[in-house]
Amino acid sequence: MNFAVFASGYGGNLQAIIDAVKKKKIKAGLELVFSDKAGAFALKRAQKSKIPILCIDPKDFSSREEFDKAVLAQLERHKVDFIVLAGYMRLLSGHFIRQYHGKILNIHPALLPSFKGVHGIRDAFAHGVKVTGVTVHFVIEDVDAGPIIAQESVAVRPKDTLASLEARIHKAEHRLYPQAIDLFARGKVIFPR
Ligand code: GRF
Repeated sequence: MNFAVFASGYGGNLQAIIDAVKKKKIKAGLELVFSDKAGAFALKRAQKSKIPILCIDPKDFSSREEFDKAVLAQLERHKVDFIVLAGYMRLLSGHFIRQYHGKILNIHPALLPSFKGVHGIRDAFAHGVKVTGVTVHFVIEDVDAGPIIAQESVAVRPKDTLASLEARIHKAEHRLYPQAIDLFARGKVIFPR
């Protein structure tokens, strides 16, 4: 199985995935790292590990669907079987999601279905929860709502600041995501019918 990672930013999860592929903890080929942001540090991480990169600028397209079609054409060229979103900050079109139905994974830095959205860690912290965590799930058209593949809880400590909680959440992400990707790649989890 071949996969692509989509990332728009720092690429901390991407790095954990690259390391796991190198150590054969993920038994699948990381064929492509795609970004919608030319300056994404994630692309530099991929280059450093000699993984092919691709950047397509959404501004060059008139609609999300047209942009996604250009991305899909490249995925076909690279023979990508499944997609791993790792801090990819764009919504995928329905067309895209249908093309890769049950084959797109995402990670969210909270225990879904709580604290959906782009500020999962901050929202959970501000709410005063005592336990939060991370969720790996399949992507469907509704945002942060697809079937759950794996979760790990992270306790909020009395002395936590947002920054200290964020650090532990990211650690949990970097542990859980490679495990979940490997399970999926080996056919141990499939999209529920
Ligand atoms: C992670 O917290 C992930 O859960 C969320 O976006 C963040 C991306 O961080 N979807 P990084 O670019 O992988 O470091």
